[in-house]
Amino acid sequence: MKKKRIGILTAGGDAPGINAAIRGVAKTAILEYNMEVIGISSGFTGLINKEYIELKESNVSGILTLGGTILGTSREKPYNKKQIQDAIDKPQIIKNNYHELELDCLVCIGGNGTMKTASKLSQEGLNVIGIPKTIDNDVWGTDATFGFDSAVSIATEAIDRLHTTANSHKRIMIIEVMGHNAGWIALHSGIAGGGDLILIPEIPYQEDVILKYLAERANVHKAYSIIVVAEGIEKPKKEKAGEYIAKLIDNKLGYETRVTVLGYIQRGGTPSATDRILATRFGTYAAELISKNKYGQMVAIHNQNISSIPLSETSGQSKLVPADASIIKKARKIGVCFGDKQYAKLKDMY
Ligand code: F6P
Repeated sequence: MKKKRIGILTAGGDAPGINAAIRGVAKTAILEYNMEVIGISSGFTGLINKEYIELKESNVSGILTLGGTILGTSREKPYNKKQIQDAIDKPQIIKNNYHELELDCLVCIGGNGTMKTASKLSQEGLNVIGIPKTIDNDVWGTDATFGFDSAVSIATEAIDRLHTTANSHKRIMIIEVMGHNAGWIALHSGIAGGGDLILIPEIPYQEDVILKYLAERANVHKAYSIIVVAEGIEKPKKEKAGEYIAKLIDNKLGYETRVTVLGYIQRGGTPSATDRILATRFGTYAAELISKNKYGQMVAIHNQNISSIPLSETSGQSKLVPADASIIKKARKIGVCFGDKQYAKLKDMY
């Protein structure tokens, strides 16, 4: 009987844990279900160019702790309108190559954009399974994505370090963290790192509240303040989030301020234990779905249980931080300011 043959690709921004997910899918498929596995290079670009490697138990051993992705990634968007206008029908090339490679299923590891492409390919007849991945934690339909815990740990350690230099110089230290349009990394690392002011896109800030909050802290002789800023907060187009807030403080209050943009450090290096476990659970479950011919699904975690939802339900929308999230309410109770009018009312600022 012909062995099932599955292709794995990794697309979008890299994140700690991708290799753990690849290993989870491949080892389970090979050892448990006697399937064949190929690893497709550079996301959808590799499928378009038919660039791949055979994955064996031997070459997925030892990758659990590796950051990045052994397959490489790209931000190729096959359904991008512009390219279709240029008469490059990449989706059709992908479907042709899927059959020429004799695949029985395509496993796509990626974020919202990847799930959107996976959903379209599924609707157009391919057997597809999505595995949600991003440090941003903003994939719709799952409580968490691997990459997020590692990024929060990296950002938290950076914030811990900023406390000592802020205190030594009695400065305001601003750290800008990633998250695209979502504030999950800023929120979690801000709380874990003892941030005083946390600015996220989901809670619109008021400049006067920020200024009053910092002036108040100075008046009660707080030697320094730590401000955690998500890169996606409201700001003038050409400005970087952290620099914009620093300029506001310097211009209006004259306080000595420094900015750290954590950037790609949040995406690099070995995954945390939590991410290794989540990625392995996702990968194994993906192989189980394939063994049962249950396609058109995105693997997910809900209340600590691994399950799946139809890819059609993801449709590329983002999971943003609910402004009334319990974690935000708790942070407010310990005096964290989110720069909004709710803080102002609380402190009777007007
Ligand atoms: O999606 C993950 C992410 O790191 C975002 O947080 C960030 O805004 C974006 O990728 C950066 O994109 P690129 O890697 O293409 O510069």
